[in-house]
Amino acid sequence: MTTTPEYAVQLKGLTKYFGKVKAVKPIDLNIEQGSLVTLLGPSGCGKTTILRMIAGLEHPTSGDIFIKGRRVNEVPIHKRNLGMIFQNYALFPHKTIFDNVAFGLKYRSVPKDEIREKVRQALELVRLPDVENRHPAQLSGGQQQRIALARAIVIEPDVLLMDEPLSALDENLREEMRREIDNLQQMIGVTTIFVTHDQREALSMSDKIVVMHDGVLQQEGPPEEVYNHPVNRTVADFLGTSTFFPATVLGREDGLYKVRLDDGTLFLVKNGRDWTDQSRVELVIRAQKPNIVPAGEDEAMDQPNHFSGKIKDRSYMGGEVSYFVELKNGLELHVVTLGDQQPMKIGRKVDVHIPPDHCGLLPASPASLGS
Ligand SMILES: Nc1ncnc2c1ncn2[C@@H]1O[C@H](COP(=O)(O)OP(=O)(O)OP(=O)(O)O)[C@@H](O)[C@H]1O
Ligand SMILES: [Mg+2]
Repeated sequence: MTTTPEYAVQLKGLTKYFGKVKAVKPIDLNIEQGSLVTLLGPSGCGKTTILRMIAGLEHPTSGDIFIKGRRVNEVPIHKRNLGMIFQNYALFPHKTIFDNVAFGLKYRSVPKDEIREKVRQALELVRLPDVENRHPAQLSGGQQQRIALARAIVIEPDVLLMDEPLSALDENLREEMRREIDNLQQMIGVTTIFVTHDQREALSMSDKIVVMHDGVLQQEGPPEEVYNHPVNRTVADFLGTSTFFPATVLGREDGLYKVRLDDGTLFLVKNGRDWTDQSRVELVIRAQKPNIVPAGEDEAMDQPNHFSGKIKDRSYMGGEVSYFVELKNGLELHVVTLGDQQPMKIGRKVDVHIPPDHCGLLPASPASLGS
């Protein structure tokens, strides 16, 4: 069986059950040649299991995996031509760096001179040209992970698979490695599948983000699209910080939906979807979107899209200030502002305004329907 060869990887109806645990429910996914795709989702959502099935480390319960148009379900791991990097570098501790990087080439019986040249090039690509004779223990964590990267790309894999490769590194090094992997990937153009539960990692590196939850693909698309237009609350909750208010659609005027929150507050919302009147929805407000001012300074409080409330809690984080605003309706709104103004104190009464194109609507989640 073959399929569209322009995709580097295709998953069709792929599932994996471990006894009663449905780790991966039927998933369909096309991964473009040369792209960097991240699988993003909370712990236990099935990311590693998908990667292991693509690698050939785990056999699917059902469905098919294609690499460059060839069905590989029965192809053993060493014949799939993949590069792999996992969280714990997994370098061979007793081999030199040269032998670690050369491993896959020796295995393929590549001539000696060619191995020497390819290892040299790979080490140069990861910017560690002078460590050939050292052992892994003589390198830092970040350097070891670079060697793992060199070892994975030296074989010129069809696909590079990375499972949380940066999670053992500290924050600054992560950032640096993130940029390095991103640059390297663009330079050599290798199709890459990158697993992470870190939204910043996914947003900053990916051509496409695939958001998973509970073994189900929730949404796939470019980072801006998934971030700005989440298809459901699960995705909105996972990417960014938002507050959700149950509401009812009243109608549409001048391209804006009019919705009523359960406490009676009216909102006008610009939204691309088709909602019928009386639909139950959730109003989504990203924490960075509201304008927040001391009470009395906002002169349009009788208009839609306004709340009044009181600062219940705040944390100053240098570049940003995070406020929890207790609204008159008893609900709590999370607001993050740039930290360049004098932070407002706890207990301060405030007016909050969110313009129609800065809030969103999502289908009501089962939790809010039940209430
Ligand atoms: N060998 C196994 N036997 C039984 N259950 C398993 C096995 N491997 C994974 N699972 C279960 O399958 C589900 C998905 O696991 P998986 O490792 O793919 O999640 P993940 O998204 O990679 O999570 P994390 O972010 O914590 O690494 C989990 O419920 C897990 O407990
Ligand atoms: Mg995992």
